[in-house]
Amino acid sequence: MEWKTPQWFGAGKRRAQLDRQVDATNLAQFGYRQMPTSQKVDWVRRHFNRVAPRYDFMNTLLSFGIQYAWKRAAIRMMGLSPGDRVLDVCGGTADLAIMASGRIGPQGRIVVYDINWAMLQAGLPKLAGKPAAHRIRFVQGDAEKIPFPDNTFEAAMVGFGIRNVTHMQQGFREMHRVLKPGGKFLCLEFSKPVNPVFRWLYDVYSFYVMPFLGQVLAGSAESYSCLPETIRLFHLPDEISAILQTIGFEHVRYRRMTNGIAVAHVGRKLNKAA
Ligand SMILES: C[S@@+](CC[C@H](N)C(=O)[O-])C[C@H]1O[C@@H](n2cnc3c(N)ncnc32)[C@H](O)[C@@H]1O
Repeated sequence: MEWKTPQWFGAGKRRAQLDRQVDATNLAQFGYRQMPTSQKVDWVRRHFNRVAPRYDFMNTLLSFGIQYAWKRAAIRMMGLSPGDRVLDVCGGTADLAIMASGRIGPQGRIVVYDINWAMLQAGLPKLAGKPAAHRIRFVQGDAEKIPFPDNTFEAAMVGFGIRNVTHMQQGFREMHRVLKPGGKFLCLEFSKPVNPVFRWLYDVYSFYVMPFLGQVLAGSAESYSCLPETIRLFHLPDEISAILQTIGFEHVRYRRMTNGIAVAHVGRKLNKAA
């Protein structure tokens, strides 16, 4: 098992993950690993193929179950209404969709949209016997090319997925495009804890304990060392707010959870036709 050194990258390295830089250099990162831009999506697909069967179990264990509180709080912040049609981008095993389904009533609909069929398949059994199951559909595809017309959804959300998308801004732009004017937006992502002592403990936990548990319980230390690496390259909350505003979201605000381990951004698409 290879141990890597925890490192929070500076603004320059984070900027290098922006779409224009990724295209100009033809270099993308998946964790600490650098690769030609065109190859990243395959790395991400292979990664989630490996982790899909144990994804929910490992996430719950590694987060001590706190991930559910983050997801519930983020869904509350979004302010969904009965009848809303919701797109769950990078929806994986459908946690956010299942939580949202209780808020949209019998007329509401949710599309769980993910590039990885193994992740969607791992989520399907969770709908069995749920009264809201008929409100949720699974569609496979890339966040950078969402196959829905402009102005389709009342709400669009992405949970713990956008940092894996090769062209993150393109992913946000696509979410903005398919939202109706006035539509609700949510991005829930990992981030940098604010308190330095807490951050140090989090570094030790995520760079040494998590890969060890990944090896023992899921047979892959690498899959679980990659997760903290991608987080340390990801943009800080104010940077994400600025990116969202540039794309055209308004009323953008965010909330840090568990000292900033997770951050939920919400916003609205401008209330007039783009
Ligand atoms: C960490 S999981 C998050 C799943 C779920 N949203 C949750 O909160 O538990 C990230 C998901 O993003 C998906 N993903 C990564 N890149 C993608 C892309 N370009 N387009 C669509 N989905 C993508 C992965 O397949 C994976 O299911």
